[in-house]
Amino acid sequence: MHGAANETELHYINGCQIKERVKEHSYFKILEIGFGTGLGFIKTYEALSEENVLMVSYEIQAELIDYFINTHPQFSINQINTELYEFKSKNFTLQIKLGDARKLIQSETNKFHAIYQDAYSPRRNPYLWTVEWFKDLIDHSDKDVIMSTYSASSSIRKSMLSAGFKLYSGDKFGKKRTSTRARLKGESETEMLAHLERSPALALRDEMCENYKKRD
Ligand SMILES: C[S@@+](CC[C@H](N)C(=O)[O-])C[C@H]1O[C@@H](n2cnc3c(N)ncnc32)[C@H](O)[C@@H]1O
Repeated sequence: MHGAANETELHYINGCQIKERVKEHSYFKILEIGFGTGLGFIKTYEALSEENVLMVSYEIQAELIDYFINTHPQFSINQINTELYEFKSKNFTLQIKLGDARKLIQSETNKFHAIYQDAYSPRRNPYLWTVEWFKDLIDHSDKDVIMSTYSASSSIRKSMLSAGFKLYSGDKFGKKRTSTRARLKGESETEMLAHLERSPALALRDEMCENYKKRD
Protein backbone atom coordinates (compact mmCIF):
# COMPACT_ATOMS: atom_id res chain seq x y z
CA MET A 1 0.00 0.00 0.00
CA HIS A 2 2.88 2.33 0.85
CA GLY A 3 4.45 1.61 -2.54
CA ALA A 4 1.12 2.21 -4.24
CA ALA A 5 0.74 5.58 -2.49
CA ASN A 6 4.24 6.63 -3.59
CA GLU A 7 3.54 5.47 -7.13
CA THR A 8 0.30 7.47 -7.21
CA GLU A 9 2.15 10.58 -6.00
CA LEU A 10 4.90 10.13 -8.55
CA HIS A 11 2.85 9.36 -11.65
CA TYR A 12 -0.34 11.34 -11.10
CA ILE A 13 0.05 14.09 -8.48
CA ASN A 14 3.57 15.03 -9.63
CA GLY A 15 3.31 13.63 -13.17
CA CYS A 16 0.29 15.81 -14.01
CA GLN A 17 1.76 18.75 -12.02
CA ILE A 18 -1.62 19.30 -10.40
CA LYS A 19 -0.38 21.37 -7.44
CA GLU A 20 1.71 23.62 -9.67
CA ARG A 21 -1.06 24.16 -12.26
CA VAL A 22 -4.31 24.17 -10.27
CA LYS A 23 -4.45 27.96 -9.89
CA GLU A 24 -3.87 28.56 -13.60
CA HIS A 25 -7.50 27.57 -14.26
CA SER A 26 -10.66 28.84 -12.55
CA TYR A 27 -12.05 25.29 -12.33
CA PHE A 28 -9.34 22.60 -12.55
CA LYS A 29 -10.67 19.36 -14.01
CA ILE A 30 -9.08 15.93 -13.57
CA LEU A 31 -10.08 12.66 -15.24
CA GLU A 32 -8.99 9.37 -13.70
CA ILE A 33 -9.29 6.16 -15.68
CA GLY A 34 -9.94 3.52 -13.05
CA PHE A 35 -11.11 4.54 -9.55
CA GLY A 36 -9.85 1.20 -8.19
CA THR A 37 -9.10 1.42 -4.47
CA GLY A 38 -9.63 5.20 -4.40
CA LEU A 39 -5.97 5.98 -3.79
CA GLY A 40 -5.80 8.40 -6.73
CA PHE A 41 -8.75 10.30 -5.27
CA ILE A 42 -7.35 10.33 -1.70
CA LYS A 43 -3.96 11.67 -2.83
CA THR A 44 -5.61 14.26 -5.09
CA TYR A 45 -7.91 15.39 -2.30
CA GLU A 46 -4.97 15.66 0.13
CA ALA A 47 -3.22 17.89 -2.39
CA LEU A 48 -6.12 20.04 -3.63
CA SER A 49 -8.90 20.00 -0.99
CA GLU A 50 -8.91 23.82 -0.75
CA GLU A 51 -9.05 24.42 -4.51
CA ASN A 52 -11.78 24.63 -7.17
CA VAL A 53 -11.56 21.11 -8.52
CA LEU A 54 -13.73 18.62 -10.36
CA MET A 55 -12.33 15.10 -10.34
CA VAL A 56 -14.18 12.60 -12.55
CA SER A 57 -13.25 8.97 -12.08
CA TYR A 58 -14.46 6.13 -14.30
CA GLU A 59 -14.82 2.65 -12.84
CA ILE A 60 -16.32 -0.49 -14.37
CA GLN A 61 -16.57 -2.56 -11.15
CA ALA A 62 -19.41 -1.45 -8.85
CA GLU A 63 -18.01 -3.58 -5.99
CA LEU A 64 -14.89 -1.41 -5.83
CA ILE A 65 -16.98 1.73 -5.41
CA ASP A 66 -19.16 0.08 -2.75
CA TYR A 67 -16.06 -1.14 -0.92
CA PHE A 68 -14.55 2.34 -0.88
CA ILE A 69 -17.80 3.89 0.38
CA ASN A 70 -18.08 1.32 3.18
CA THR A 71 -14.46 1.60 4.27
CA HIS A 72 -14.18 5.42 3.99
CA PRO A 73 -17.30 6.86 5.68
CA GLN A 74 -15.43 10.14 6.30
CA PHE A 75 -15.96 11.04 2.63
CA SER A 76 -19.78 10.60 2.69
CA ILE A 77 -20.16 9.76 -0.98
CA ASN A 78 -23.75 9.98 -2.24
CA GLN A 79 -25.16 7.74 -4.92
CA ILE A 80 -26.99 10.13 -7.29
CA ASN A 81 -28.27 7.44 -9.69
CA THR A 82 -27.26 3.97 -10.92
CA GLU A 83 -24.23 5.37 -12.75
CA LEU A 84 -23.14 8.36 -10.68
CA TYR A 85 -21.66 8.80 -7.20
CA GLU A 86 -20.67 12.17 -5.80
CA PHE A 87 -18.64 13.66 -2.97
CA LYS A 88 -18.47 17.42 -2.33
CA SER A 89 -16.41 19.37 0.16
CA LYS A 90 -16.01 23.15 -0.16
CA ASN A 91 -15.14 23.64 -3.84
CA PHE A 92 -13.79 20.13 -4.45
CA THR A 93 -16.14 17.70 -6.19
CA LEU A 94 -15.52 14.03 -6.94
CA GLN A 95 -17.80 12.26 -9.40
CA ILE A 96 -17.38 8.51 -9.81
CA LYS A 97 -19.01 7.30 -13.01
CA LEU A 98 -19.82 3.59 -13.13
CA GLY A 99 -19.43 1.92 -16.52
CA ASP A 100 -17.05 1.14 -19.35
CA ALA A 101 -14.70 4.08 -19.91
CA ARG A 102 -14.97 3.64 -23.69
CA LYS A 103 -18.73 4.28 -23.42
CA LEU A 104 -18.63 6.88 -20.65
CA ILE A 105 -16.27 9.12 -22.60
CA GLN A 106 -18.87 9.36 -25.39
CA SER A 107 -21.25 11.30 -23.14
CA GLU A 108 -18.57 13.23 -21.25
CA THR A 109 -19.17 16.99 -21.26
CA ASN A 110 -15.98 18.18 -19.53
CA LYS A 111 -12.60 19.16 -20.94
CA PHE A 112 -9.82 18.03 -18.62
CA HIS A 113 -6.55 19.63 -17.51
CA ALA A 114 -5.11 16.41 -16.08
CA ILE A 115 -5.69 12.78 -17.04
CA TYR A 116 -4.54 9.87 -14.90
CA GLN A 117 -4.33 7.01 -17.40
CA ASP A 118 -4.37 4.26 -14.76
CA ALA A 119 -6.23 1.45 -16.51
CA TYR A 120 -5.01 -2.13 -16.20
CA SER A 121 -2.04 -3.00 -18.39
CA PRO A 122 -2.25 -2.91 -22.20
CA ARG A 123 -2.09 -6.73 -22.42
CA ARG A 124 -4.92 -7.16 -19.97
CA ASN A 125 -7.03 -4.21 -21.11
CA PRO A 126 -5.92 -3.17 -24.62
CA TYR A 127 -9.08 -1.20 -25.49
CA LEU A 128 -7.99 1.52 -23.07
CA TRP A 129 -4.63 1.94 -24.84
CA THR A 130 -5.57 2.32 -28.51
CA VAL A 131 -5.24 5.25 -30.92
CA GLU A 132 -9.05 5.50 -30.93
CA TRP A 133 -9.20 5.74 -27.13
CA PHE A 134 -6.48 8.39 -26.98
CA LYS A 135 -8.30 10.39 -29.68
CA ASP A 136 -11.42 10.33 -27.52
CA LEU A 137 -9.33 11.59 -24.61
CA ILE A 138 -7.95 14.42 -26.76
CA ASP A 139 -11.52 15.42 -27.67
CA HIS A 140 -12.11 15.87 -23.94
CA SER A 141 -8.85 17.61 -23.13
CA ASP A 142 -8.14 21.26 -22.46
CA LYS A 143 -5.26 22.55 -24.63
CA ASP A 144 -3.19 22.70 -21.41
CA VAL A 145 -3.75 19.01 -20.55
CA ILE A 146 -1.12 16.70 -19.10
CA MET A 147 -1.88 13.00 -19.32
CA SER A 148 0.29 10.71 -17.26
CA THR A 149 0.72 6.95 -17.15
CA TYR A 150 3.09 4.40 -15.68
CA SER A 151 3.36 2.61 -19.04
CA ALA A 152 6.48 3.12 -21.14
CA SER A 153 5.65 0.56 -23.83
CA SER A 154 6.71 1.59 -27.34
CA SER A 155 3.45 0.38 -28.79
CA ILE A 156 1.42 2.47 -26.32
CA ARG A 157 3.62 5.51 -26.91
CA LYS A 158 3.02 5.11 -30.65
CA SER A 159 -0.75 4.96 -30.00
CA MET A 160 -0.57 8.25 -28.10
CA LEU A 161 1.57 9.90 -30.80
CA SER A 162 -0.74 8.76 -33.62
CA ALA A 163 -3.70 10.19 -31.72
CA GLY A 164 -1.98 13.58 -31.56
CA PHE A 165 -0.26 13.78 -28.17
CA LYS A 166 3.30 15.11 -27.73
CA LEU A 167 5.32 12.82 -25.48
CA TYR A 168 8.06 13.06 -22.91
CA SER A 169 9.39 10.57 -20.41
CA GLY A 170 8.25 10.52 -16.84
CA ASP A 171 10.04 9.46 -13.69
CA LYS A 172 10.99 5.90 -13.00
CA PHE A 173 9.34 3.90 -10.25
CA GLY A 174 10.76 0.71 -8.74
CA LYS A 175 12.07 -1.64 -11.40
CA LYS A 176 10.49 0.30 -14.28
CA ARG A 177 13.07 2.51 -15.92
CA THR A 178 10.70 5.19 -17.12
CA SER A 179 7.06 6.15 -17.66
CA THR A 180 5.16 8.43 -20.04
CA ARG A 181 3.72 11.96 -19.94
CA ALA A 182 1.68 13.45 -22.79
CA ARG A 183 0.62 16.99 -23.69
CA LEU A 184 -1.03 18.77 -26.60
CA LYS A 185 1.35 21.74 -26.38
CA GLY A 186 5.05 21.81 -27.29
CA GLU A 187 7.04 19.09 -28.98
CA SER A 188 7.84 15.47 -28.17
CA GLU A 189 11.23 14.59 -26.71
CA THR A 190 13.64 14.07 -29.61
CA GLU A 191 15.34 11.10 -28.00
CA MET A 192 12.03 9.33 -27.45
CA LEU A 193 10.96 9.93 -31.06
CA ALA A 194 14.27 8.51 -32.33
CA HIS A 195 13.83 5.45 -30.12
CA LEU A 196 10.25 4.92 -31.34
CA GLU A 197 11.32 5.24 -34.96
CA ARG A 198 13.78 2.38 -34.48
CA SER A 199 11.22 0.20 -32.69
CA PRO A 200 9.19 -2.31 -34.74
CA ALA A 201 6.26 -2.00 -32.30
CA LEU A 202 2.99 -0.86 -33.87
CA ALA A 203 0.51 1.67 -32.55
CA LEU A 204 -2.39 -0.28 -31.09
CA ARG A 205 -5.75 0.09 -32.84
CA ASP A 206 -9.17 -1.16 -31.73
CA GLU A 207 -9.24 -3.82 -34.46
CA MET A 208 -5.96 -5.32 -33.13
CA CYS A 209 -7.08 -5.69 -29.51
CA GLU A 210 -8.34 -9.28 -29.46
CA ASN A 211 -5.10 -10.62 -30.96
CA TYR A 212 -3.01 -8.37 -28.75
CA LYS A 213 -4.59 -9.95 -25.65
CA LYS A 214 -3.93 -13.47 -26.95
CA ARG A 215 -0.24 -12.88 -27.65
CA ASP A 216 0.81 -13.35 -23.98
C1 LIG B 1 -4.85 -0.01 -11.83
S1 LIG B 1 -6.49 0.07 -11.29
C2 LIG B 1 -6.75 1.76 -10.87
C3 LIG B 1 -6.14 2.15 -9.56
C4 LIG B 1 -6.71 3.43 -9.01
N1 LIG B 1 -6.42 4.59 -9.84
C5 LIG B 1 -6.31 3.64 -7.58
O1 LIG B 1 -5.81 4.74 -7.26
O2 LIG B 1 -6.53 2.72 -6.79
C6 LIG B 1 -7.40 -0.05 -12.81
C7 LIG B 1 -8.89 0.11 -12.63
O3 LIG B 1 -9.49 0.29 -13.91
C8 LIG B 1 -10.78 -0.29 -13.88
N2 LIG B 1 -11.18 -0.58 -15.27
C9 LIG B 1 -10.71 -1.56 -16.07
N3 LIG B 1 -11.31 -1.51 -17.28
C10 LIG B 1 -12.16 -0.47 -17.24
C11 LIG B 1 -13.07 0.09 -18.19
N4 LIG B 1 -13.19 -0.42 -19.42
N5 LIG B 1 -13.79 1.16 -17.80
C12 LIG B 1 -13.67 1.70 -16.56
N6 LIG B 1 -12.82 1.20 -15.63
C13 LIG B 1 -12.08 0.14 -15.96
C14 LIG B 1 -10.54 -1.57 -13.05
O4 LIG B 1 -11.76 -2.08 -12.54
C15 LIG B 1 -9.58 -1.08 -11.98
O5 LIG B 1 -10.25 -0.68 -10.83
